[in-house]
Amino acid sequence: MVLRERLQNLLRGARPESTPVTVEADAPGAGSADEADAATQEAPVSTTTTAHPNGHFYSPVVDTAELAERESLLWPDSPRIVGIDFNDASHEDILRRAFPRFMPDYDYPETLEESPQLTDFFTRNSQFSWLDARAYFVLLRHWRPRRVIEIGSGFSTLLAADVNRRFLDGQLDVTCIEPYPREFLLQGVPGVSRLLQAKVQDVDLAEFAALESGDVLFVDSSHVAKTGSDVNFIYFEILPRLADGVRVHIHDIHLPHEYSKDWVLTENRSWNEQYLVRALLMDSRRYVVEFGCNYAFHRFPQLVREAVRSEHGYGGGSLWIRVRES
Ligand SMILES: C[S@@+](CC[C@H](N)C(=O)[O-])C[C@H]1O[C@@H](n2cnc3c(N)ncnc32)[C@H](O)[C@@H]1O
Repeated sequence: MVLRERLQNLLRGARPESTPVTVEADAPGAGSADEADAATQEAPVSTTTTAHPNGHFYSPVVDTAELAERESLLWPDSPRIVGIDFNDASHEDILRRAFPRFMPDYDYPETLEESPQLTDFFTRNSQFSWLDARAYFVLLRHWRPRRVIEIGSGFSTLLAADVNRRFLDGQLDVTCIEPYPREFLLQGVPGVSRLLQAKVQDVDLAEFAALESGDVLFVDSSHVAKTGSDVNFIYFEILPRLADGVRVHIHDIHLPHEYSKDWVLTENRSWNEQYLVRALLMDSRRYVVEFGCNYAFHRFPQLVREAVRSEHGYGGGSLWIRVRES
């Protein structure tokens, strides 16, 4: 089935096929801009009722009123996380050595129109910005991976592709896994090798097992662990199969803090991926923390200000961990 038909089916509410569709970098695009954006926003939703209302103790959706009563406990100024070594030495090394070397080239505009015709990265986009964008820019150049697989693609992809074109001689192999791609991904982004238009749960595990030491798995998908979800698949099927030395870059992880108050109390996103990540890292012999944007912002505020050459610095939600080399 061609991409246009798949998008039209999506818009009609049909579920995407389970077989991934591969769009090679130089393939012509498919689907109109409106279709692509609608597809991004109109992922299938269920109309079935749930056994328990939101906020009930059996529901995964939180009760914001109850949490607001415990606000000071959940959002202390200095959270204490037991059992995770956030690796201060690595943060200091990256902020002191890598950022000063590469940040001077970070020259993206703050804003561009977020239209379907977009082809270039800009910093204040809706998905991937602040310290996260700057860290991705710096760390791709600092570590020079051979391959990146992005699970959940979009603005971050525009940034990785640009770094690849301008600073890595096009040597970085970027694979995107994205069931509801934006128009620019469908059109093909120079610097991106492949788009697998599929849910990650439908992608062959051999793709991930093939990553080698120094390669990067970027995780930025639904952020929700639930039965059959992408997040469960990533943490229970993909991560255990990664080779030693592979880096995992997980987005929207606010550790050592709780998810931001806004996301919890105002928006009630009820995301839960970071609780899996926290459990994964506790007393872990398999993973080493290398860099956390939120951790860096709070633990080394002055170094961050200097690193990003800004009076206030930037926070973020990217967490970079690595499978320990045995
Ligand atoms: C928070 S957005 C981030 C996208 C991207 N990193 C960016 O910077 O724009 C989350 C993405 O996850 C994708 N997604 C949702 N379910 C997914 C699944 N099962 N497998 C892979 N990606 C999925 C969504 O379509 C969406 O584009």
